[in-house]
Amino acid sequence: MKKIELHLHLEGAAPAALIRSFAAEKHQDLHGMFDDRGQYAFRDFKNFLRVYEAATAMIQGPRDYARLLEVVLAECAEQGAIYAELFVSPEFCGGADLAAWRDHLGAMQEVAATARAQGIDSRAILTCIRHFGPDRARKTAICAAETSGGWVAGFGMGGAEDAGEASDFAWSFDCAREAGLGLTVHAGEWRGPDSIRDALSLGVSRIGHGIRAIEDAQLLRDLAERQITLEVCPGSNVALGLTDWRSHPIARLADAGLRVTVSTDDPPFFRTSLSQEYRMLADHFGWAEAEFLQMNQWAAEAAFCDDATRTRLL
Ligand code: ADE
Ligand code: ZN
Repeated sequence: MKKIELHLHLEGAAPAALIRSFAAEKHQDLHGMFDDRGQYAFRDFKNFLRVYEAATAMIQGPRDYARLLEVVLAECAEQGAIYAELFVSPEFCGGADLAAWRDHLGAMQEVAATARAQGIDSRAILTCIRHFGPDRARKTAICAAETSGGWVAGFGMGGAEDAGEASDFAWSFDCAREAGLGLTVHAGEWRGPDSIRDALSLGVSRIGHGIRAIEDAQLLRDLAERQITLEVCPGSNVALGLTDWRSHPIARLADAGLRVTVSTDDPPFFRTSLSQEYRMLADHFGWAEAEFLQMNQWAAEAAFCDDATRTRLL
């Protein structure tokens, strides 16, 4: 099966051991971030974001980012993915300074080209961080617009969903759209249907998570009619305490006619992998080859790549 992953944070995919080795090189202390087995430890979503940002602070400069991408794409290939879209934040790589971002991007593009030749294709979705606010998002959008095309294929927003409204970021999303980038926003994870509607007002074709659409029948109809794709990450939702596997709405969202795809979000944080997500979907909802094929077809159609690449994914 041609597995496609649409929602994977590059920084959030960093194995804990790699972050420890980056920290050791820089003589940094990472006390309190790991459990006694050396895995990431966090109490709740706010604490997750704090640990995530502390881990990310250890990834410094183009060389670290290139190494991280190499490790992450190798793991994607190991999981049977042929294509992955990675959320990458210039606010972390070089502070959203355009010249610094270009240096980081150059190093990552070389790694991506090598990985593509080895069978795992990828694209970057440049991502602003909602709780860092609209001004910093603008700088990220400018980095995205100035480097769009080729590996940089999308613009997105993650972070704390309760920080302002998605529409506060309209300037950045307009800038990215004008540059021809695909658009996606994390919504309907920590807030309900109104947050998804707000995200739709930015002109996105995809929603990150979106699971709380299940609370609003009219919204479900709108999402289905507009052919919006949901990037659902069930293992992430379970690990962060939003739901458990048995009551996860993914199957009900699919039954409501939505274009549902599955991804891993931040796999080492959530002790998951793409294969594990497929296994859990099979165990809990009886999903089998037909469902997985359909899901990957939705993912190929929603991918932010060029059409020649899309044809290979379909
Ligand atoms: N950044 C990394 N993982 C995230 C998540 N699950 N929600 C929002 N922002 C994130
Ligand atoms: Zn995410």
